[in-house]
Amino acid sequence: MLNIGFLVLFCTLPLAALAAPSCSLVPNATLPAVVRRDNSSQALPFVATTWYNKEHADFFPPDNISWEKYTSVTYAFATTNEDPSAELGNIDGMNDTDLIHFVNLAHGNNVKALLSIGGWTGSGHFSCDVGPTTNATNPSNATIFINNLVNLVSNYSLDGLDFVWEFPGVDADPGNVVNPNDSQNFLAFLQQLRNTTTMQNLTISASASITPFANSTALPMTNVSAFAEPLDYVTIMNFDQWGSWSPSVGPNAPLNDSCPDSPPNSVVSGSADSAVKAWIAADFPPEKLVLGVAAYGHSFSVNNSDANNTAAPSDAVWTFPVAAYPPFHLPQLQGDSLDAKNATDAGNYTGIFNFFGLIDEGFLDSNGHPVNGTGYRFDNCTQTPYVYNFTTGVMVSYDNAESFAAKGQFIQDKGLRGFAMWEAAGDRNDILLDAISQAAGC
Ligand SMILES: *[C@@H]1O[C@H](CO)[C@@H](O)[C@H](O)[C@H]1NC(C)=O
Ligand SMILES: *[C@@H]1O[C@H](CO)[C@@H](O)[C@H](O)[C@H]1NC(C)=O
Ligand SMILES: *[C@@H]1O[C@H](CO)[C@@H](O)[C@H](O)[C@H]1NC(C)=O
Ligand SMILES: *[C@@H]1O[C@H](CO)[C@@H](O)[C@H](O)[C@H]1NC(C)=O
Ligand SMILES: *[C@@H]1O[C@H](CO)[C@@H](O)[C@H](O)[C@H]1NC(C)=O
Ligand SMILES: *[C@@H]1O[C@H](CO)[C@@H](O)[C@H](O)[C@H]1NC(C)=O
Ligand SMILES: *[C@@H]1O[C@H](CO)[C@@H](O)[C@H](O)[C@H]1NC(C)=O
Ligand SMILES: *[C@@H]1O[C@H](CO)[C@@H](O)[C@H](O)[C@H]1NC(C)=O
Ligand SMILES: *[C@@H]1O[C@H](CO)[C@@H](O)[C@H](O)[C@H]1NC(C)=O
Ligand SMILES: *[C@@H]1O[C@H](CO)[C@@H](O)[C@H](O)[C@H]1NC(C)=O
Ligand SMILES: *[C@@H]1O[C@H](CO)[C@@H](O)[C@H](O)[C@H]1NC(C)=O
Ligand SMILES: *[C@@H]1O[C@H](CO)[C@@H](O)[C@H](O)[C@H]1NC(C)=O
Repeated sequence: MLNIGFLVLFCTLPLAALAAPSCSLVPNATLPAVVRRDNSSQALPFVATTWYNKEHADFFPPDNISWEKYTSVTYAFATTNEDPSAELGNIDGMNDTDLIHFVNLAHGNNVKALLSIGGWTGSGHFSCDVGPTTNATNPSNATIFINNLVNLVSNYSLDGLDFVWEFPGVDADPGNVVNPNDSQNFLAFLQQLRNTTTMQNLTISASASITPFANSTALPMTNVSAFAEPLDYVTIMNFDQWGSWSPSVGPNAPLNDSCPDSPPNSVVSGSADSAVKAWIAADFPPEKLVLGVAAYGHSFSVNNSDANNTAAPSDAVWTFPVAAYPPFHLPQLQGDSLDAKNATDAGNYTGIFNFFGLIDEGFLDSNGHPVNGTGYRFDNCTQTPYVYNFTTGVMVSYDNAESFAAKGQFIQDKGLRGFAMWEAAGDRNDILLDAISQAAGC
């Protein structure tokens, strides 16, 4: 799910005063997802969703999901193929027992069951799959792909699809097909998909970068309003903003990045705030923006001398303040128990610590607070915490209840549609989920 924001689009438009979304987690399976399509003024229903990562099914079976706290849960990922008519990758054709079980659980809990297609390594063929026809006598790839998807949705009784194309018109994971017309083709594809009887009232969402969809020169489009019609919402994936590829330790999921003490713009990759401003400046309605949030953090190896800011211990639980944006060194060490090193990820650890992993590995106590003796910093600008183990030299930029509450408040303040958490397995005892839900007004 790397989302390397290589561009930042700052906008100067003031945000209009926006009504808070009506936030009801009462499941309402009969409420059409696309309420505004009939031009009614009814408030769009709040979205409280999470991705269910099937790769972690052994550790976190779908039965463990706190279903009652979500309006939908998205099964991730089915992957794209070069042939738009082929069965999607990573799920077992039309008879995937895990997906069937997932959908049954969701429906038993009156929650929408969505399927995510794509992801960082699964987006390689979107460009072909949504392509136009090469001649007048052939159906377009988009038409073939749509028939394929509609059959899949009907077969599994899905309530919608989430397109996690990383990223239309942008060179991302090596080997991905990229076409200057990707975003234009994607829009036409979404319009045609929405036009099908099957998808007419189901959820269609796209999970996107912190900058609006790219134009033919791979720069953010200045007007993406047309996408708001076929899409129920766009999820802004505001995570992986800093990691082992960055020039220093920095925030995984910053809420803001425009404070006086922020690194220079050339270094900052963006934030929830800059992303929402950019999408709104490109004429996308805030009520159709969902904020993607991270139940995990990235770890960095930092020397004690770089981490220690030499100030005295400053709080009641005896944590030590640590420096902002310190340098780090490679190699990337292992993150938590789910961070496997294998051939598919080039033999490198991701260094990811899920929130539960920070508790299990002794950075945080069972309530999610930093343990006595660790280094700790809560960054006021990005509204995200850092924790540091002086013995192992590992610093983690992550999210906690406080930062999730700040993001929930932001969702309410900006009139956004809701939140989407990567991933359901990352939390512990719903500490993060409850924090963001309550702060968003649920
Ligand atoms: C559920 O949806 C129906 C149809 O739109 C609506 O009349 C009803 O008030 C909704 N119930 C809740 C609890 O939102
Ligand atoms: C699907 O899988 C189930 C369980 O393995 C099996 O009983 C059933 O025959 C399969 N159906 C098809 C169409 O392959
Ligand atoms: C359509 O899909 C085929 C593979 O089935 C691919 O070779 C072709 O390039 C695609 N067309 C477009 C316009 O992307
Ligand atoms: C249209 O394209 C297909 C292959 O993509 C080819 O088989 C067919 O002959 C073409 N038809 C015409 C009229 O060019
Ligand atoms: C949607 O369907 C209508 C009626 O069948 C058709 O006129 C229109 O061109 C379709 N639009 C798209 C984008 O497929
Ligand atoms: C979609 O919802 C509209 C409005 O409730 C309804 O008239 C239509 O029949 C629904 N379409 C499908 C395919 O269920
Ligand atoms: C792409 O968008 C950028 C602004 O982000 C604009 O400067 C550029 O002219 C656009 N390119 C095209 C081909 O429209
Ligand atoms: C940080 O550095 C100061 C000054 O060198 C030292 O007194 C203190 O023990 C260090 N703190 C930690 C937690 O290592
Ligand atoms: C934290 O550990 C230090 C050193 O062991 C001890 O003096 C202090 O009382 C502890 N604080 C708390 C709140 O447990
Ligand atoms: C893997 O780690 C090694 C050692 O730190 C580094 O040189 C290499 O660039 C990393 N590869 C990837 C794909 O991150
Ligand atoms: C290797 O990584 C891939 C992608 O993250 C994952 O699907 C696979 O299960 C991993 N294999 C092992 C043996 O951990
Ligand atoms: C944190 O930011 C808020 C709002 O920008 C400000 O009022 C507060 O003084 C700041 N706190 C610190 C410790 O800098």
